[in-house]
Amino acid sequence: MSMQELEKLKSDLKALNAEYAKIKDIPAEKRAEFGREMNAKKNALLEAIAKAEEAALESEIEPLDITAPTAPNQPIPEFLSAEGGSKHPLMTELDRVIEIYQMMGFDVVEPRQLDDEYHMFDSLNFPKGHPARDGYDTFRTEEGYIPPAHTSTMQNRVLKACKKNLDEGKNIAVVVPGRVFRNEDVDTTHEHTFYQCEGVYVSKDCTLGNMLGILREFFEKYYEQKLDISTQPGYFPFTEPSLEFKIEKPKALGGKKGEFIEMLGCGMIHPNVLKMAGIDPTIYHGFAWGGGIDRLVMLRYGLKDVRYFESGKLNFLKEF
Ligand code: DAH
Repeated sequence: MSMQELEKLKSDLKALNAEYAKIKDIPAEKRAEFGREMNAKKNALLEAIAKAEEAALESEIEPLDITAPTAPNQPIPEFLSAEGGSKHPLMTELDRVIEIYQMMGFDVVEPRQLDDEYHMFDSLNFPKGHPARDGYDTFRTEEGYIPPAHTSTMQNRVLKACKKNLDEGKNIAVVVPGRVFRNEDVDTTHEHTFYQCEGVYVSKDCTLGNMLGILREFFEKYYEQKLDISTQPGYFPFTEPSLEFKIEKPKALGGKKGEFIEMLGCGMIHPNVLKMAGIDPTIYHGFAWGGGIDRLVMLRYGLKDVRYFESGKLNFLKEF
C-alpha cells in the first residue's frame, strides 16, 4: 500500500468524524442505528489505517547488507521488541565492578574488539618471535587484525592518552573492562569469548604494596567480605616483577581457611612499556593488572560452567 493510499484513508476518517456532528439533526428513533453504522465504518477505517501503517513501516526498512562494513553510528532498525528482555548477568556484574573502581578513583576506558599486532604484542614488550606470544593463541583476520586476547592491548593507548595527567602533576588511574577472544579448547572453565578488566596506575612514587592494597580492597568490596590474599611470582613480558594474585575462596562457596584461587595477573609496568608510551621510567613508576570477569562472577554465584554466559540459554538467564 502506498503513502497516498494511507493519506486517503486518514482523510476519510477525518471526514467521518465530522459526520458524527449530524447526529443531532437525526430523529431520536433513528439515532441508535446511525450510531451503529458510523461506528462500524469508523472501526473498518481504523483497521485499514493500522494495516497500511504497518505495511508502510515495513517497506521503509531496508534489508541489511550483511557484508557491508559495520557503521556503529547508524540507528539500528527495530526488528524485535526489546520489551521482554533484561540485562545479561555479566553486564550487571561488570557494572558493579566498574562502580567499585570508580569509587576508588579510577576512570573507565572502553577497549576495541579488533586490534593490531603492535598493541597486542609489540607495545607490551613481547619480542618478535618470543615464545610468550604463543600463550595468547588468538584469532586473526586475513588482513592481519587481531581480536584481542587480553585487555592489556589498551595499556599503550591509555598511557599515551593520560600522559598529560603526569605532566600536570597528577596520576594515571584507569580501568579497561572489555571482551577478549582466545582460540581455546572450550570446557567448563575455558571459553573462546570472555570478559576481562585491566587496571593501569602510574605515578612518581607508587609501589607493589599499593597495588596489592587496591586489589584486596576491590575483591573485598566485590565479594562483600574480608579476604586474605596471596601472591606468587609469575611471568608477563610487560611487567617486572610479575605476580599471580590469589584470593581466599569466598566462605559462601564453602572455601576453607588457606584455600586460595588465582584471580589475575599483575606487576610493576615494565620500563620498556612506559618508554614506548613516551613516559620516562626513571621518573615514573606504574603497576597494572588484568583478570577475568567471568571467573569473578562464577565465584560469586557458585556457577560451575563458564559456557552458560555465552550460551543464550533462557533458563540460565532467568535465574538472575
Ligand atoms: N593480560 C594478562 C593475561 O590476560 C594478564 C595481566 C598480567 C595483565 C599482568 C596485566 C599485568 O596488566 O600486569 O594473561
